[in-house]
Amino acid sequence: MAYKRTLVTSALPYANGPIHLGHLAGAYMPADFYVRYQRLKGRDIVYVCGSDEYGVAIVIRAMQEGVKPQDIIDRYHPLIKESFAKVGMSFDHYSRTTSPVHADTSQDFFRRLAARDDFVLRREEQLFDPKAGVFLADRFVCGTCPKCSFEEAFGDQCEQCGTSLNPADILNPRSTLTDAVPEHRQTTHWYLPLGRWQPALEQYVASHPEWKPNVLGQIGSWFADGLRDRAITRDVPWGIPVPAESAEAAGVDATGKVIYVWFDAPIGYISATREWAEKLGTPERWEIYWKDDETRLIHFIGKDNIVFHTLMFPAMLMAYDEYVVPDSVPANEFLTIEGRKLSTSRGWAVWLHEYLDEFEPDLLRYVLGTTFPETKDADFSWNEFQTRVNSELADILGNFVNRALTFAEREFDGAVPELTDPSAEDRAALETLAGFPDRIARSYERFRFREAVAETMNLARLGNKYFNDTAPWKTRKSDRIACGNTVHVSLQICAGLSVLMEPVLPFTAARLRAMLRLTGVRPSTPGPSDSSAVGWDEAGSSLLTAGHALGRREILFSKISNQMIQKQVTRLESAGQEAELPYAELKKTIQYDDFARLDLRTGHVLSAERITKSRKLLRLRVDIGSETRQILAGVAEHFEPCTLVGCRVVVVANLAPRKMMGLESQGMLLMAEDRAGQLALVTADSESGAVVR
Ligand code: MF3
Ligand code: ZN
Repeated sequence: MAYKRTLVTSALPYANGPIHLGHLAGAYMPADFYVRYQRLKGRDIVYVCGSDEYGVAIVIRAMQEGVKPQDIIDRYHPLIKESFAKVGMSFDHYSRTTSPVHADTSQDFFRRLAARDDFVLRREEQLFDPKAGVFLADRFVCGTCPKCSFEEAFGDQCEQCGTSLNPADILNPRSTLTDAVPEHRQTTHWYLPLGRWQPALEQYVASHPEWKPNVLGQIGSWFADGLRDRAITRDVPWGIPVPAESAEAAGVDATGKVIYVWFDAPIGYISATREWAEKLGTPERWEIYWKDDETRLIHFIGKDNIVFHTLMFPAMLMAYDEYVVPDSVPANEFLTIEGRKLSTSRGWAVWLHEYLDEFEPDLLRYVLGTTFPETKDADFSWNEFQTRVNSELADILGNFVNRALTFAEREFDGAVPELTDPSAEDRAALETLAGFPDRIARSYERFRFREAVAETMNLARLGNKYFNDTAPWKTRKSDRIACGNTVHVSLQICAGLSVLMEPVLPFTAARLRAMLRLTGVRPSTPGPSDSSAVGWDEAGSSLLTAGHALGRREILFSKISNQMIQKQVTRLESAGQEAELPYAELKKTIQYDDFARLDLRTGHVLSAERITKSRKLLRLRVDIGSETRQILAGVAEHFEPCTLVGCRVVVVANLAPRKMMGLESQGMLLMAEDRAGQLALVTADSESGAVVR
């Protein structure tokens, strides 16, 4: 279907902490690339976002600090908004869910669904913290995950295996507020019976075979389990109140009851669009973006938000029966940092505002763009950041632009030379340039941002190659016309680049256009679009006329030193350590005899393989000199089996055999586990069978 307009959203970030690179690479940067590209195409597109300011995570944060939830959000909302602006996020509107418009929109939504009998009410037992005197919703409960046995799962989700949970599912529950063991008490809540919507949702999802496999996979397993009722109210002291009339009509005392954050937050997209329209002085204009079939709605999110955007929110929208439903939900996987899972509680994160104190925003936009976790988890490392900046941005893009402009300045008085009797090479370069807008566009249209970024850099590569091949430093004496042609064509490539790189490198693109004195290019930021201006589709044609006077040349990118990178690595590591758990306490003193009862031997790993159905165990065959042992080691999440083969390890050889997953384990490997839970082998160089003592 051909759409007339697009509404793009990025997941509303919780205002309980600053933005880090994981957020940025997941739901924000790709959306910004996309929206800027579409604006350059001259399309009607609106991009909204805002801070997600309710929910238990914010209450917990406030309690930990001994302040009010309002203090938390008033600290982080401005910080988030500002760092987004600095990194070039080009929202048409950035809102917050504590805005009055949002309370109004959410309550309207609730009222309408309640009036249409789209909810069910249930009175049942819930966990209650007797010390704090509150019901324990969501993250107020922690304990053991029923699926994977992770001991620090939260009442709404297990962060180890990703399963979404209810507080009642948690084994050995404790209150995160007081550590108390919860009691059971009766309370009443509104539920959205998602099961009723399953047929409609299945049909809806089936009409989108083009969605990413990661998205379809998650949805498929939810359908297979059968969609269950979701509670959409909570007994917590922070949130949008359940509308009084809905409570009255249902005969429920709604004192202290609020709308669940995952019910109100996606409605925040609607509220933000309303505020945007009001800001423009055309308050009704939001409706066409939400209620007209010819609007294409796209949600950019991280993988932990998939079910909310593909099942729960669409069901809400269908129930309301006036709104469009999402057409696409490009969800990204996670970003790791220096090979380790990002963890804010452990301090293992790179914070956007801290990054921006040290480096230019465009460098990050580019480097993240080359590594977005589009199809699987991806890694950010400072060394790679340095390499990409130095050898791609500086050495390829920056260098090409600099060479073209330097020649124009020195050989042609800083003006664009004529193109006279172009050679086959000149014509080929111009033709390739002409094909680039469509080529990069195809990647953007399919949400393949890494590919789009790579293609953009390929245009600069092409420029460099053409420049080298035509060798203007030779022709400058021997053949002024050929030299002029090289500079002319190179400058056209620079001009094309200054438009095509705009989604990824908006700040640099503007500087490049200033150097070229190229004006009349359509902005990629919000605002009325001038259809006569030069946009994406014109970027492949010759944008500069012969004789046009160029501006002042500058260096586009300076190189990043090892020292700068070392500083970042050190900062990351020390933050990671400060917040880490303390080392385990030393155990009680033992006598030599106690130690001597252990039989430790040097072993040699002969083979290692995964065990089907076990995420943790590897099956090893270890030669301990006198014999070969089968050892089951819980290291599958830390080592690729092949990396263990050939290693010399220390084995506890007289540990009683034990059965696991139907296999016998005949010993144990010594491992060192650091505070972050990473395992390393304790190794020994001696021959197999040597006694360790
Ligand atoms: N705040 C949520 C998160 O960070 C995302 C909310 S997205 C919305 O995971 F749809 F609810 F707005
Ligand atoms: Zn789990």
